[in-house]
Amino acid sequence: MNPDFNRVLVTGGAGFIGSHLTETLISKGCAVRVVDNFSTGHLSNLAHLKDKVMLYEGDIRDRELMNTAIRGCELIFHEAAEVSVTRTVQDPLESAQINDMGTLQLLETARHSGVKRVIIACSSAVYGDDPQMPKQENMLPRPMSPYAVQKLTGEYYARMYNDLYGLETVSLRYFNVYGPRQDPSSPYSGVISIFMDKAAKRESPVIYGDGEQTRDFVFVKDVVTANLLAASVPDAGGKVFNVGIGSSISINELWRLISRMSGNSKKPEYGPPRAGDIRESLSDISKAEKELGFTPAYSFEKGLEITMEWYKNQ
Ligand code: UD1
Repeated sequence: MNPDFNRVLVTGGAGFIGSHLTETLISKGCAVRVVDNFSTGHLSNLAHLKDKVMLYEGDIRDRELMNTAIRGCELIFHEAAEVSVTRTVQDPLESAQINDMGTLQLLETARHSGVKRVIIACSSAVYGDDPQMPKQENMLPRPMSPYAVQKLTGEYYARMYNDLYGLETVSLRYFNVYGPRQDPSSPYSGVISIFMDKAAKRESPVIYGDGEQTRDFVFVKDVVTANLLAASVPDAGGKVFNVGIGSSISINELWRLISRMSGNSKKPEYGPPRAGDIRESLSDISKAEKELGFTPAYSFEKGLEITMEWYKNQ
């Protein structure tokens, strides 16, 4: 971590990924500010840090709030978003206000406030159903939902701010992130959080389709590492990086692992395939490895064990 960056803002800092980022930044001695409107984040995610973080409760579209929160910051990690793909499908306009206008306004405020660099949370959703595997950053995006279009738009704005205004920006395309604090309570939550919850309750999960669809699951702590590298590597400005582990696993295999670890031997139920589901997802992380020095530190088994411990204690 570059020691120059000592005052940092994390938008969405009370959320799943944002709270892990906040925790690590504080442990590295940064003065951390968080903006969160608690739409999906929870104050409890920051409870152990409450005396160490400056919290601004509100919406990223609130100009005054953002001016205050950004003033004096050198670095911003932009994790706040409407993160439910389904909600963006139901309400493309409202979600565009949050994901596009919110991001644009953040970049604009950052440019006028002397911020050095902004790290944007993007998504593997931008690749859509392109069958080419693994996904490489230079592939033509095929966004298939308002969410994917909005994430891509935020990325394009970020790149434009880098090139046109000299505000350094880096976009990280997260694959399927999992780990402690991921909320399993909605039907659209990440599959690992749902399966962990089922395992803890001794219930059967529902697998949509034949379960042979695959995903590249990356542990949240590795996502934090990628963010810190994106913040500190000198030539990263204006670039886009995949953040995954570069290997994938099927949903059937995922339940087998979780069921073995938890001792819940319940067989899964199978339901109809989920509309819009993609079959395969796999990242090529060689660009992040080469240019950021990123190496995932958590094997899938290790990440799952840590995650299971956390769900057991909930
Ligand atoms: C993920 C992201 C999404 C992003 C997309 C990009 C999450 C939570 N979502 O969606 O934001 O746009 O990648 O490609 O990370 N499944 C079951 N049973 C369940 C839940 C899920 O079988 O109870 C299956 C799904 O049908 C899917 C797989 O598990 O095939 C993964 O689902 P999910 O965790 O929702 O992530 P993605 O659909 O990959």
